[in-house]
Amino acid sequence: MPNPVTALSLSDQDAYRRWRDDKLADLPGSPDDLIVEVDDPRRLTEAETEAIRERCGRWNMAVYRSRVGDDPDKDIPRLLGARFGLHSLDHNPGADEDAITAVTIQSDALHQGFIPYTDKPIAWHTDGYYNSPQRQIRAFILHCVRPAAEGGDNALLDPDVVYIRLRDRDPEHIRALMHHEAMTIPPNIIDGVERRPAVTGPVFMAGDHGELVMRFTDRKRNIAWRDNATTTAAVAALREVLGADDTPVMRVRLEPGWGVICNNALHTRTRFSDSGAPRLLYRARYYERIQGT
Ligand SMILES: [Fe+2]
Repeated sequence: MPNPVTALSLSDQDAYRRWRDDKLADLPGSPDDLIVEVDDPRRLTEAETEAIRERCGRWNMAVYRSRVGDDPDKDIPRLLGARFGLHSLDHNPGADEDAITAVTIQSDALHQGFIPYTDKPIAWHTDGYYNSPQRQIRAFILHCVRPAAEGGDNALLDPDVVYIRLRDRDPEHIRALMHHEAMTIPPNIIDGVERRPAVTGPVFMAGDHGELVMRFTDRKRNIAWRDNATTTAAVAALREVLGADDTPVMRVRLEPGWGVICNNALHTRTRFSDSGAPRLLYRARYYERIQGT
């Protein structure tokens, strides 16, 4: 996969074409294509590492299936990430002290109002869309300790494909979504205390090496889109792409010891219900992109 250094520039149609054609010629056929069998994510072999990296290079995501079962060791995501150059963990408000978040049902004040810590479904989003531009999330790991009794499945989608579908429809959609004021997340205020300021920024941006970085949430409330016709049209088109039958959405149900490692791919979660021990996933968010992708 050529690095899309200039492919994202609207003025370089040839570079875009080459990147686009390569990308569309090599879409994953099914979620099985994403899967890499590994023994222990804390101690990946060279072959396991390269198999994961190869998938992340082609599709920005991989699913590992390990043999560690429901071992709740947080070194599992930490050491896995380190193998791919992921070191800078994001300390988001819901994170534990060590910045690896236990995603499970929480009802305390710290997690109040945050959908991830409930049993509710989560709409399409990239992680950290409310982070400041200096703290954009480039990669994350989602490691399953215990799945829900029912539901809690994830869907994954490569942001590159969304960019391509939109640009092929109308490059003006890309122009609108690359605008630095395209999407505003209002401040998070609880009981009169501002926990996070408002954040304004683009949906699509180019990373340090020309790769695509996407910042998006499909929530309908508590979000302000730039108020003009081109942005409105672009957001509507984006939603159509997310819902289209030919969009290569990968649906996975993580079992104990399985996980996702990705360059902040778009993802959703279905509603779930627990019986007995609650659903528990670890989430690690990084400012780096997966090394070698
Ligand atoms: Fe997420």
